[in-house]
Amino acid sequence: MLQTLSSYQTVIDAMSANIALLDVEGVIRMVNRNWRKFSDANGGTPGEYGIGHNYLHLDKASSCEPPGNKLAAAPEERKNLAQAVSGIREVMAGHTNRFEMSYPCHSPQEERWFLLTVTPFDGDSPFSVVVAHENITQLVKSEKQALLHSQRLIATFKDTVEAISLAIEMKDPYTAGHQRQVADLAVGIGEALGLDRDQLFGLALGASIHDIGKISAPGEILNRPGKLTSPEFMIIQAHADAGHDILKNIGFPWPIADMVWQHHERWDGSGYPRKLGGEDICLGARIIAVADTFDAITSHRPYRPGRSVSVAVDEIQRGRGTAFDPQVVDAALPLLRARALSAS
Ligand SMILES: [Fe+2]
Repeated sequence: MLQTLSSYQTVIDAMSANIALLDVEGVIRMVNRNWRKFSDANGGTPGEYGIGHNYLHLDKASSCEPPGNKLAAAPEERKNLAQAVSGIREVMAGHTNRFEMSYPCHSPQEERWFLLTVTPFDGDSPFSVVVAHENITQLVKSEKQALLHSQRLIATFKDTVEAISLAIEMKDPYTAGHQRQVADLAVGIGEALGLDRDQLFGLALGASIHDIGKISAPGEILNRPGKLTSPEFMIIQAHADAGHDILKNIGFPWPIADMVWQHHERWDGSGYPRKLGGEDICLGARIIAVADTFDAITSHRPYRPGRSVSVAVDEIQRGRGTAFDPQVVDAALPLLRARALSAS
């Protein structure tokens, strides 16, 4: 047995984590070199290292100090300690094969985080479980940095879209208002389809600038009363390609340029500019197509009054499976009908 115990010591001394081996009562029977180093550096009782103390009584001391230290723990730390002790008990009782939790363990000099892992000690030995504390400070700091970076990037995307939106608002306030309404409706449809927060955010951005290509069309054509001539209609239709050209080199993490390019494509391939059909049209564009049609019918324009919400609902329903993705229509109709009810 002595020979075996010294082998255990050799093995755990080679590990980078701070490791303790507990017996069936939860008493610390063996610790590794890094455990001792941590204890010495953090004010543990010299030469003791918690050996002989019951780890399950840790919640009466501070987790950041070696067991046996009687420092009172702060409330947050007591919560972590209670969770750790409960996890150790679960593994000791055989209810689970592994318990893990990360926790902060700051020293006066630096912020630190550790990962506690508890696993059963198999085989014929006086030990019950292995308790390992791995310093994960670098990982946590990198994750925090990455999160901060990603939040800044998302804010930049939002600002970029707002700037683009403002550019069209200056030229054509009707289109700007229309884009905002379409974005609002598109997000409602997206929620009904079960899109996650990130997808909804991208959809809102795409819908907010879906007609950005109209910035390239002459203002007198955009809002001219009466029927457009064929060449004028072609100029308006070019806004889908123009919008894509404006946005295609911005590295959005959502398919914003495609949403803008494809929002006049139709489920049956009858749309423009490329006559795409079905799921070749990205989901965002299929949603914007429904929201765009609804808002275009119900909105007042300089050259015609808006029609009723129920007319728009009928139009969307008629287009189910032809102009529009049937699933998108099914998700949109309850929303649109609710609007019809509140408008009547
Ligand atoms: Fe459009």
